Amino acid sequence: MKTLGTPLSPNATRVMLLGSGELGKEVLIALQRLGVETIAVDRYENAPGQQVAHHARTITMSDAAQLRTLVETERPALVVPEIEAIATAELQRLEAEGVVRVVPTARAARLTMDREGIRRLAAETLALPTSPYRFCDSLAELQAAIDGTDGAAAIGYPCIVKPVMSSSGKGQSKIDGPADVPTAWDHAMAGGRVSHGRVIVEGFIDFDYEITLLTVRARGADGRIATQFCEPIGHVQVSGDYVESWQPQAMRPLALERARAIARAVTDDLGQGLDGQPDGCGLYGVELFVKGDDVWFSEVSPRPHDTGLVTLSTQWQSEFELHARAILGLPVDTTLKTPGASAVIYGGVEATGLVFDGVAEALALPGTDIRLFGKPESFVKRRMGVVLARAADTDAARATAKAAAARVRPRAV
Ligand SMILES: Nc1ncnc2c1ncn2[C@@H]1O[C@H](COP(=O)(O)OP(=O)(O)OP(=O)(O)O)[C@@H](O)[C@H]1O
Ligand SMILES: [Mg+2]
Repeated sequence: MKTLGTPLSPNATRVMLLGSGELGKEVLIALQRLGVETIAVDRYENAPGQQVAHHARTITMSDAAQLRTLVETERPALVVPEIEAIATAELQRLEAEGVVRVVPTARAARLTMDREGIRRLAAETLALPTSPYRFCDSLAELQAAIDGTDGAAAIGYPCIVKPVMSSSGKGQSKIDGPADVPTAWDHAMAGGRVSHGRVIVEGFIDFDYEITLLTVRARGADGRIATQFCEPIGHVQVSGDYVESWQPQAMRPLALERARAIARAVTDDLGQGLDGQPDGCGLYGVELFVKGDDVWFSEVSPRPHDTGLVTLSTQWQSEFELHARAILGLPVDTTLKTPGASAVIYGGVEATGLVFDGVAEALALPGTDIRLFGKPESFVKRRMGVVLARAADTDAARATAKAAAARVRPRAV
């Protein structure tokens, strides 16, 4: 994009977000600041991003016909997927037909929409280190993969079972012994996004810590695409869902070098467009496990990552600003501003139209900030907001973020 327009005028630069949750909302705000005309799409009305965009549209994004009609009607310059559950094959067709550009590429959206595409690319095509894994379509196949009676090396115990189509830990469980296998299978069948009954079973990696390495492919001042890395983000997951994150995560030099090499290999590949053109600019969240100097690739989001919410406080350009700039073809700056942390605020109740007590008390703690996402409906484990904290080091920032988040009390009225 060589020129940016004026929103709501004939020369507007129009960008469509597919998915308008808390991450999409921040991307939309970053785009608004650059004078981009924004269209926020979600499956329900008044989604967080729809509240800050020029236009709000509500459709079933996994429905190919609905998605095509919307894109053909709105004719955005760019389509920005924010979630995995969209009709990515249709996006690929729309991109191939030249109707729209998908960022970073339609291929990246398609490969990362289920665990199989991205895992086979990383482990089999790119030969990157991952946990041992197998894909299974039945309880019998799962048991055989764990025992190694299917002709391949045994996955063994402990291991982790996940539906191929799921996120935020849904349907995921750890198996410690034979007694857990049927339960894990049933849990995966109940928690998958679309019930097509396929799971991945992964050997358990006993990592020291896990990170998200935010990796940006962006055009520099010379017009060439270059890869830049943010400082590693450490995080804690509970039942496969992120509860706190911090930046920077200290790493041994060799582990950091390996993490960057893996992130570069994956994003270089995902950045290839349909015709093999390396034009897939944008920010990626590369999830890695680290033990000593060993690093394993886990998965990647071709878009801002939930653990990267911390960058709203810690970087000069947050991951959302980095994504907005990169997809528009603008240069980026990944420099860290200060150590910091984030802590999630869960709904804690099932209700519509929550109120939040204790926000003033939370913000009374020095160095804190807050985002309340504005989700119309709350569930017990729904992420409704996040506290950000900056401090002299990440330990202090984590303690402050957690203390502040605990002061915020969501309540049904
Ligand atoms: N093979 C493994 N060994 C050890 N821990 C694992 C393994 N796979 C997953 N985990 C743990 O479970 C978490 C969630 O796994 P994963 O990222 O695959 O699920 P997800 O549903 O895609 O989560 P999200 O959408 O929140 O990223 C990981 O961040 C890690 O803490
Ligand atoms: Mg993950």
